[in-house]
Amino acid sequence: MKSDIQKNSHNLKTKIIDATAEMKKCHQEVLKHLDGLQNLKETIIKKNLPVSAIKNEWDKFNDFANTSLLLHTRDEEQALFPLLEPKLCNHACIGTGSITPVEMMMTDHKNIHAAIEVINYLTKLLGKKEVSNELSFVLKNEMAARMAMIIKTMRNHIWKEDNVLYQIARSELSFEELDKVSQKMVVFRSQSDFICLH
Ligand SMILES: [Fe+2]
Ligand SMILES: [Fe+2]
Repeated sequence: MKSDIQKNSHNLKTKIIDATAEMKKCHQEVLKHLDGLQNLKETIIKKNLPVSAIKNEWDKFNDFANTSLLLHTRDEEQALFPLLEPKLCNHACIGTGSITPVEMMMTDHKNIHAAIEVINYLTKLLGKKEVSNELSFVLKNEMAARMAMIIKTMRNHIWKEDNVLYQIARSELSFEELDKVSQKMVVFRSQSDFICLH
């Protein structure tokens, strides 16, 4: 899979004009991958998919999570959020208690990452020869449940970022600050050995 997304001189981004528009483009790519994951989640039990088919489909999502999605998370956590967080702390009407929307998004990132790690582990277990049919059924159910959690959390997360957080960023951050975010995103891309798939 990773051979498809190796970086070369033709697809290296040297300028990003609009940071949040670029992030929204990445969301569109994430949503396409979530559709694929939804399909896997629905067929894993219904069609009692063999381990090789599950692994093949899961690897597509996992490779995306380790490349483009990783880069997108870095864009948010290391470029956008540090500039946005101080503004949100002064935003009286936003946030619940001491938790700001940025902290909520960071929690989603962690939960999604943790669920991906669990599915990776379950995939390995499922591939072991000594796994009985009964255990295989339990593992497949657990995988499907974690996939459902990823799909739901990510779809909600993207909606909140597109419709709330990025809107706040565009109104609260200055042109210079937004440009700083774009510049950092370009640096992250130059440091990665893969490209962003959008
Ligand atoms: Fe996010
Ligand atoms: Fe995002």
